Amino acid sequence: MKAHGPAGLQSLSGARVLITGGLGFIGSNLAGRLVELGADVTLVDAMIPEYGGNLFNIEAIRDRVKVNFSDICDRHAMDWLVRGQDYVFHLAGQVSHVMSLTDPYPDLEYNIKGTVVLMEALRRFNPRARASSSPAPAASTAPPSACPSPRTRRRTRKASMKSPI
Ligand SMILES: NC(=O)c1ccc[n+]([C@@H]2O[C@H](COP(=O)([O-])OP(=O)(O)OC[C@H]3O[C@@H](n4cnc5c(N)ncnc54)[C@H](O)[C@@H]3O)[C@@H](O)[C@H]2O)c1
Repeated sequence: MKAHGPAGLQSLSGARVLITGGLGFIGSNLAGRLVELGADVTLVDAMIPEYGGNLFNIEAIRDRVKVNFSDICDRHAMDWLVRGQDYVFHLAGQVSHVMSLTDPYPDLEYNIKGTVVLMEALRRFNPRARASSSPAPAASTAPPSACPSPRTRRRTRKASMKSPI
């Protein structure tokens, strides 16, 4: 397993990276850094009105990234886009607390269903990819197939309940 401390970041050179929400604030900044490191970056964004997505955010790297305007809830698009990627940073979503109070449906649709669609696409078509919902590469060490099974989680929970701290 590769480490991605400051020195290990060089190993991202040539890596294929998919960023969902890639035209938003965090996604576009991450894209800029990954391009600097020599990664082959694809951005996917549905450009949902009133969210942070804007082509201006990637003006400096526009000719060095691929941009795909898709919704992460689109199963066929995600099944296709995850193929061949080494890393997936999942940053698409409804991020406004205030909006979630006035209209909860985008949270359900994008944050829950969209995440499941993306994880399923990875499980089925690219289980070796490393996926993260954080822009920090250090958090992206576990492939989706390495998620603990419900049985392992139950055992871990029982063990921690027995622990005297
Ligand atoms: N902004 C911060 O300070 C900050 C800090 C830490 C973590 N984060 C996290 O980073 C992530 C991104 O936040 P952000 O501030 O960049 O938000 P943002 O609104 O700037 O970007 C989100 C992007 O996701 C896209 N998007 C939303 N739903 C989509 C869908 N269904 N399909 C495709 N694209 C979709 C939007 O069009 C937008 O471009 C969130 O998970 C947020 O919690 C943000």
